[in-house]
Formats: sequence, C-alpha cells, structure tokens
Amino acid sequence: MFEQQARERIAFLPTPFHRLKNLGPNIGLDNLWIKRDDLTGLSAGGNKTRKLEFVVGSALREYADTLVTVGAVQSNHCRQTAAVSAMKGLRCVLLLRGQEPESETGNLLMSRLFGAETKFYPDDTFDELQERLTSVTETLTELGLRPFPIPAGAAMPEGIIAYAVAMEELKTQATEQGTDIERIVVASGTCGTQAGMILGAKLLDWDVQIIGVSTSIDSETGVARVRKLIDETTEAYPDEIDKFLPKVTVDDQFVGEGYGILSEGAKSAIELFGKTEGILLDPVYTGKAALGLIRMSLAGDIDRDSPTLFWHTGGMPAVFAYAKELQ
Ligand SMILES: Cc1ncc(COP(=O)(O)O)c(C=O)c1O
Repeated sequence: MFEQQARERIAFLPTPFHRLKNLGPNIGLDNLWIKRDDLTGLSAGGNKTRKLEFVVGSALREYADTLVTVGAVQSNHCRQTAAVSAMKGLRCVLLLRGQEPESETGNLLMSRLFGAETKFYPDDTFDELQERLTSVTETLTELGLRPFPIPAGAAMPEGIIAYAVAMEELKTQATEQGTDIERIVVASGTCGTQAGMILGAKLLDWDVQIIGVSTSIDSETGVARVRKLIDETTEAYPDEIDKFLPKVTVDDQFVGEGYGILSEGAKSAIELFGKTEGILLDPVYTGKAALGLIRMSLAGDIDRDSPTLFWHTGGMPAVFAYAKELQ
C-alpha cells in the first residue's frame, strides 16, 4: 500500500499490539486490545511520527531545508516535527497558538531542546494560524531558504496515507494473534489519523468501525473534516484509490469544556489506565478518547466479547505540563 511514495524510515515499527487483560474486564470488555503508537520511538512517540515519515519524504524530495509547522503551545505534533528536523539536519520553525509561558515544560521544552525556533501568537484563531503558516513560508522563501509548510497535525495527504499503511500493520498483527478487530476507538483532533484509518480499512476491504472521539470540535464539523481529508487524499493518489463516500463517526460527547481543558472524567480514565495497566495516557487527547471507550462500554454500546481496540496515539510529555491538574 502506497509503496511508491517517498518515505523516510523514522518510526520504530510495528508498534506493539497487545491485550488489556486487567482494564478490559474492569470496564466490561473481555476482548480489549491496544495499539501502542505512544511507542513510535521518536522522542517520546506519538501518532505524528508515522505521518512525518511520508511528510519528510516529500520535503526531502523537494530539497527543503526547513520544516515550518503550527500547533498549540503543548503540541505533540510540533515536538515530533522538531525532533525529526534535528535528526535530518533541517531547520525547524514552530508557530504556536498561545501565550509564551514563563517557564518551559513538556512538549515545548523538548521542542526547544531539539533546536526548534518558536514563535508565539496569543490572539490567533486556529484558521489565522494556518494563514500565518502560508505567510511565514513566503517570507522564509524570500530570505533564500527552502521551507516546507506542514499544516496542523500534518493533516495533509502524506500524513493521511501513513495511517492507511498503519491499518495494514494492525491487520497483520491481529491476524497473527487470531483476532478480528471489530471496532477501533481513537482520539480525533485535526482528524487526519481517523481519515487515514478509514482509508486503510477501505483499501483492505476491512469492515471495522472506527470511532473518532473528538478532543475539540463538534461531530458535524469532525465528520466534514474527515470527509474533506479523505477526498483530498484520493485526489492526490488517484492510482492508489478511487473516490468514495465514507461512513464517518466522530463522537463529541467527551470534549468537556474544550480543547486542552482536562475534565474530571478524562482524569479518571487516565488514572484507570495507569492503575490497571501501567500505561500513561495524556490529558489533551488519549485521556478523552479513553473516557469515550469506558463510557461506551459501561453504557452497553459494546458487546462484552466483541474485539475492540483502543489506539493509543501518544502525548506523554503533556502530562508534565498538566501536573497540577492531574494531582
Ligand atoms: C497524542 C495525540 N493524540 C491524537 C491526536 C489527534 O490526531 P489527529 O490530529 O490526526 O486527529 C494528536 C494530535 O493532534 C495527538 O497529539
């Protein structure tokens, strides 16, 4: 799948796939599995490492010397972009939405240690920051650099196909373990990861339900975003896949008070994963997705024996930026 695409091998793949033998029965699921993309390897792992393999593949093919991207102050995506830039000898410019903190911690601290240049925009909306990505890229080009702009969350065709390929990896592992996953629960932010999974399932002819748990936006916006990303990707790779209308589920019941705001429910989910399995979730993404999984199960929406997968997408460094709220 997508074998002809430029790709830099960065991640430690395949990531582990294993059962959650303690947590599962605790929440009424006897067949609960996890895919450990918190262990993709690049500087504390995360889902963006898979995406960056193809994104950086394209950037190097275009002889880029600088990666420019955007995100929140505690962006996992920005931290992984900074790390891969260091690895590949590229300059990295991060445009961050929010106030510059008095002291650095978590992802921001790591990004700086990886040599990224950071700029803060406290008043920008998400859309304004995307526009800024274009203008900063133009300025850098005028200055004689060769910048490669990466949208928030690497939600671009190169990033999407990475998760289609990841589905092939999962399918192989599940078959080896003699299980057929019927449902995947994953955190959705820019929705690129979920879009890639749906694309992969389509290419593999795999009838698996993919439930995106929104961490910021409402369901309608999420579904539209997933569909748009899939359309853009099928247009970018017409030889690999025909256009199709996907069935998309984005659940917005677990957003809480908004992006980056830790809810009591997400905190409990983080504690439950930690105490039963020794697995660390994060306060912004996977904590909310895990809350979604737990609530769906306790509400009886998932059959006890139905093979279900929680796709861990990383985010560990943000735990340290939320240390107070997590106590
Ligand atoms: C830890 C973590 N999980 C999930 C997501 C959501 O991924 P996506 O933006 O592809 O929906 C992100 C990034 O935004 C993330 O950092």
